[in-house]
Amino acid sequence: MANSNLTNAKRTKNDEFYTQYHDIEKEITAYVEYNPDVFRGKTVLLPCDDPEWSNFTKFFAQNFERFGLKKLISTSYAENSKIYKSGYQPTIFETNDPQYDQNKTTKYGKIFTLTHDKTGDGKIDVDDLEWHYLAGDGDFKSDEVKKLRDEADIIITNPPFSIFREFLAWVIEADKLLVIIGNMNAITYKEVFPLIKENKVWLGATGNGSDMVFAVPKGAEVDEKDRQKAARLGYVGDYTRLGNSCWFTNLDHGRRHQPLPLMTMEDNLKYSKHKEIKSRKSYDQYENYDAIEVPFTNAIPSDYGGVMGVPISFLDKYSPDQFQILGMCENVDLYSLKTKVYSTGECKKAYLKKFGKKGTYDLNASGVVFREGILVKVYQRVLIKHRNTKWKQH
Ligand SMILES: C[S@@+](CC[C@H](N)C(=O)[O-])C[C@H]1O[C@@H](n2cnc3c(N)ncnc32)[C@H](O)[C@@H]1O
Repeated sequence: MANSNLTNAKRTKNDEFYTQYHDIEKEITAYVEYNPDVFRGKTVLLPCDDPEWSNFTKFFAQNFERFGLKKLISTSYAENSKIYKSGYQPTIFETNDPQYDQNKTTKYGKIFTLTHDKTGDGKIDVDDLEWHYLAGDGDFKSDEVKKLRDEADIIITNPPFSIFREFLAWVIEADKLLVIIGNMNAITYKEVFPLIKENKVWLGATGNGSDMVFAVPKGAEVDEKDRQKAARLGYVGDYTRLGNSCWFTNLDHGRRHQPLPLMTMEDNLKYSKHKEIKSRKSYDQYENYDAIEVPFTNAIPSDYGGVMGVPISFLDKYSPDQFQILGMCENVDLYSLKTKVYSTGECKKAYLKKFGKKGTYDLNASGVVFREGILVKVYQRVLIKHRNTKWKQH
């Protein structure tokens, strides 16, 4: 298989990762704790789901009354349209239902809705879900699912990872509330970062940067290391884990309003637990941005009034009450923050000096510091500033 096909196969395989009940519960509980009425009177759409057994559908159906939901809608994508085939078998739930149609089951998506106590047992729960085949394959981009999106107040799912950007744009263009799982790297996408900068989207309350376990289709190939790691976390069998998945949302939660406890610059240079900070006389200043390099989130000085370059993982701790996001150290320079653009000649010279051989060091891709006589490109950084500007610039 050609390399690009292999990468594609891997990407689309990740599209069939199914979220654990506990992860959904932890995250959604954080929103409800912050605002007990967050879901009251709301229509929640769970697209890209497999509602017969999805934990998203199960969780919201179980909590329908407690959350005061108005309507729950859950849709699935037809097996024939999926890129990654996993040996589809209709569930007993479907085959036992008079609506079951063997010509439709692989060709059409399904829709499950929950609004009222259909069974008359005095409570609204999973048993009250009603379903039918969709007219199309359940593609979130179809007019049929778009209509459901427009009807909904909040869109919640773990969308296919390979089309995350498209999915997020689909939610944002309709101006909906959202809680979706993605990859931390998505923060740096040019379609995503501006939303984060403008506080239109932020990271969720839980799970960021820690292992999230996902179920995979029965017998799916899983990297042995990931399978073992999932097993150590208590999920044995058809499971995998991702270390860099996170939630993206525009629902408020308490963690966003907890300021990071920080030390002053002077104290960091004296007492930081990072020897890279403690062993220095000052923080590095970038050569190509008017900002200092802060390689660790917990080494952000509490009293620095200027711009600081911090790791992407800072966003997991980001409180918009404490900090303002100004941009990123990046190739594109979306916000015109670069104070210097390196020529090809300078990139070649820097490579030779750093690695002792011919090559091109892409100095324009991030922040650059001058360390022991060598230009060093640091990892991707978010450029931030304290909101409280009482401090003078150093
Ligand atoms: C990462 S899985 C998550 C499933 C479920 N939301 C969960 O978390 O357990 C994404 C699902 O979206 C489906 N899917 C892929 N492309 C889709 C599309 N264009 N429209 C709707 N669903 C799609 C995949 O087949 C898969 O079932």
